[in-house]
Amino acid sequence: MSKIGLIGGSGLYDIKGFILKQKKTVTTPYGKPSDQYLIGKIGNTEIVFLPRHGKKHNMPPHMINYRANIWGFKKLSVDRIISISAVGGIKKGFKPGDIVVLDQIMDMTRNRKSTFYDGKGGVMHIDFTEPYCPELRDIILKAGKQARISLKNGGNYVAVEGPRLETASEIKGFKLLGGDVVGMTGMPEASLAREAAICYSGISVVANYAAGISKTKLTVPEVMEAMNASTEKLKQLLKKTFSLISEERKCTCKDALKEAKI
Ligand code: HPA
Repeated sequence: MSKIGLIGGSGLYDIKGFILKQKKTVTTPYGKPSDQYLIGKIGNTEIVFLPRHGKKHNMPPHMINYRANIWGFKKLSVDRIISISAVGGIKKGFKPGDIVVLDQIMDMTRNRKSTFYDGKGGVMHIDFTEPYCPELRDIILKAGKQARISLKNGGNYVAVEGPRLETASEIKGFKLLGGDVVGMTGMPEASLAREAAICYSGISVVANYAAGISKTKLTVPEVMEAMNASTEKLKQLLKKTFSLISEERKCTCKDALKEAKI
């Protein structure tokens, strides 16, 4: 049976119903992952959980070793990852507490090691037209319907470097470009997962209105509070999602490296 990886963002450090079997320290050619991987079960599904910022939340977004994190999942035989993150809402109607099943990305990060293919293993150009696994996205949307959890179907994630929050002008620009939400961790996580031929989906919780969208100043307690308020819904959604995932992958993520090499 395949294993499902879960990356927890701010506010999601554990999941109810998770029976922990093992904590695993994984070494990788790229250095250390954010923390130990927690391996266990929810119902009948094998889950591998990694807190993206470390379990004590001591790793800022720009310092996360994204390559080690994804490599670690691969090493643990994970072939699907569900990634949870907190975001600022840009699109009209995206308000704090909303849960968004992402469908696109704009990468505005600058200083991150963003590929496993830096020349040594050949020159690779993976297709990234659809950055999130469409099959996994559909399963999450179906789980939302069945569990009666309201979800936003689709969102364009603008990935920024951080750790500072954005200016009002930057958010205005992102909005003009078609960005719906903004966050600091979505890239290169998503593209590394594709390079590793792992299905990857992104579920974002809108923690605050992005800079300048509301008149009030952004604060960290506000972000954490919104995340905590949504945690229960998120856990139910995940549990339902896991129960709907079948063994076989019908999408093309597993073939990401075919016809990608020069
Ligand atoms: N901007 C960037 N990252 C974030 C935000 C934001 O407003 N909220 C939560 N993560």
